[in-house]
Formats: sequence, structure tokens, C-alpha cells
Amino acid sequence: MSFKAGLIKYNTFNQVCKRSNSFWANVAMGPPDAILGVTEAFKRDTNPKKVNLGVGAYRDDNGKPYVLSCVRKAEKRLLEKSLDKEYLPISGTADFCKHSINLALGDNNPVVSNGLNATVQGISGTGSLRIGAAFLKSFFPGNKTVYIPIPTWGNHTPIFKHSGLDVKTYTFYDPKTCGFDFKGAMDDISKIPEKSIILLHACAHNPTGVDPNPQQWAELSQLIKKRNLFPYLDMAYQGFASGNIDKDAFAVRLFVKDGHQIGLAQSFAKNMGLYGERAGAFTITTASKDEADKVLSQLKILVRPMYSNPPMNGARIVTEILSDKELRAEWLQEVKVMADRIISVRAKLRENLKKEGSSLNWQHITDQIGMFCFTGMKPQQVEKITKDFSVYLTKDGRISMAGVTSKNVEYLAHAMHTVTK
Ligand SMILES: Cc1ncc(COP(=O)(O)O)c(C=O)c1O
Repeated sequence: MSFKAGLIKYNTFNQVCKRSNSFWANVAMGPPDAILGVTEAFKRDTNPKKVNLGVGAYRDDNGKPYVLSCVRKAEKRLLEKSLDKEYLPISGTADFCKHSINLALGDNNPVVSNGLNATVQGISGTGSLRIGAAFLKSFFPGNKTVYIPIPTWGNHTPIFKHSGLDVKTYTFYDPKTCGFDFKGAMDDISKIPEKSIILLHACAHNPTGVDPNPQQWAELSQLIKKRNLFPYLDMAYQGFASGNIDKDAFAVRLFVKDGHQIGLAQSFAKNMGLYGERAGAFTITTASKDEADKVLSQLKILVRPMYSNPPMNGARIVTEILSDKELRAEWLQEVKVMADRIISVRAKLRENLKKEGSSLNWQHITDQIGMFCFTGMKPQQVEKITKDFSVYLTKDGRISMAGVTSKNVEYLAHAMHTVTK
């Protein structure tokens, strides 16, 4: 290229870049995502001892992502079947929907056998929650406000607000005990206006790891019924909390047994390790088969302009596992291995804090359940542990127990003790 041609090209490029009347000139820089931003900061850190306890994805005891053996086998079988890649129906595959709701409610549940569920495949837990929120915005006949626990998973408020619902809160966590504030929750729920929506974490509450016990669930269910509230259950961790899928579905099954009509969002990200496959389901239970058919028709109408139809691969893997006796048995075993590792590493962290000489009461580490531990560390302590020890976590003091291993647990305990003593 001649010098002149090069200059013209350069000037044109500069003009385009400097266009003052850009359509996007007034777009401000948004803040990084509170959780995914932690991973970005972790990646930039060059300390070889760095630990990422921000993101909620399971790691094995070597700190490596873990693909379940039953998933690998299911993938192999699917490959051998040479299936086509045609579009799925708007509501996903019927088999996937049937297996998902059966997993949640238990086999032979009368709701399913009587056709009282409208279930659609969603884009993992988030997408399923979003479909439910859109449905409630359009069709919930009461107060279009969702009451969420404080604290809750950081994405709940945006999901509901983006769907046009109002968001209010109820007490859930007691910072003094690092446990469930049952009285606070009951008091607040008893004041929620009738015919509102209440969001409940079915198990392994995120971010606190604090769940009501069965007796407390029973009382919550009665109160929610008395107030005529609509329970919207978010079940992102079935099996992952206790290692037992039936035990973790206790609340969902209790609410159904108590005669509630429920909304239910399910995710297979954690319990099958299918994070990026985006397999999930959304269900509404109804009073009649006719109602269920009508609800399903409206769910499809909502999904169609959002993403047309869901992705197939994750749903096929889930279906293959849940429908095959051998693979299903292997999966149940593997979920338990994951949950047990988390439970054992909780005990190790507590032991090591004691060894460090911490005089604080860390019992909540072993009382809490599931992926996360709400440590009780204050924002300044979080800042310090990140700065001095390269331990990365969210500002609220939540650590993902999945990132703790037998190799880093001593280092973590030492760091936690140093910043909290
Ligand atoms: C409480 C809760 N709900 C829903 C989700 C949805 O996750 P996904 O969209 O990856 O299935 C998560 C994931 O962290 C969660 O913790």
C-alpha cells in the first residue's frame, strides 16, 4: 500500500473511532458481576497459593472440575445413537419434563399421575426461574410481588425485576447465630399481604447454607397456606445438599402434600455437574388437567419469543441417566460422593480453625449444608484475606465449600484465623 493510501485508510479509521454521535456514546460501564467478577480477579492473581472460593461449581479434591462418570457414559450412548439435531418442541422434550418432575415429586405422585402439572424444559435453573417469573407477571391473579429471603442468591432480584414483578423481602438468616431465624421468618411471613408470591429455596439455601428443619418447614407450609401465598420453590441443589435426592426434596413434596399449588424451578447444573449444558425445568401445579393444559399452552407462548426452544444436549444426558436403571444408580452414588466430600471438608475446615487457636465459634461451618458456607466474615476481613492470602470469595463472606480441598484447607484455616482474630 502506498504511503498516501495508508494515510487515507488511517484517517478514515480514526474518524470512525472518534465519531462523537455514536449511538452508544452514553452507555456507562457496568459493574462486573458480583460472583463472576471474583473469578476474573482470581485469574489475574499470580500467587501460586491462590484459592478461588467464589463460584459455586463443584471441584474434586485436587481442585479440578469434575465430570460425572454417569454423564460420560450417557454421552457415549447418545453418540452411538447418532441422533438428529432437529429443533426440540418449545416446551422441550416430553421425556425430560416427565423425568424432571418425577425426580422432584417422587415416582407415582398423584399430581403427575392425574396430569396436574404443567412442566417445561428451561435453560437450567436461571432460565426456568425466568420462565416462571414471566408466567407469574402475566397470569398470577394476586399481588405481583415476590417476597424473597434475606439474603438470597444474587440473581433472584434481577430475574424477578426483569420480568416486571416487584420484589420485597422477608427475614431468613440470623447473623448472631449464623443460622435460620425461624421466628423472624414466621413474623415477617405472617405480615405478607395475602395472595402474594413467596420464593423459597427448597434445599441448600444459597448463600447461607442454612435450611429450615422438617418441623420448621411444616410450620412454614401451614403459615403460607393460611396467608394464601403462592410458594415458588427454587430447587437448584437436589441431592447435592445431603447426598440424598429424596431427603433434599422434602420441602417440595411437603408443600404439594399440604395441598399448595406450587411453582418449581429445577436445575441439573450442580447435581449432575451439567453447568454449561443448561438443563432445567419449570413446573406449575394446577387444580385440574384442563388447567394444566391451559397453563402449558401459555408457557409455550411466553417461551417462543424468548428463545424459541431449549437446547437438547443436556436434556438428553439427563433423560438417559434418569431413565436407565444402571446409570441412575451410578448417578445417585456420585451425587452422594460429591455431597460427602463437601460435608467432610466442612469438618476439616472447622478442625483446622481450632488447631490454629481460633476462639471463635465456627460450628455453623458444619451446621450449614450444600455448596456454600456463610462464614460470618465481615467485608474488611474479606478484603484482607484476598489481599494478604489470595483467597477469593464474595464480599458477603460466602465461601464455596467446593473449592476447599484436603490440600488447601490448612492454608485457608490459617488465613481465616489471621483475618478474624
Ligand atoms: C439458588 C439458586 N438458584 C438457581 C441457580 C441457577 O443455576 P443454573 O442457572 O446454573 O442452573 C443457582 C446457581 O447458583 C442457585 O444457587
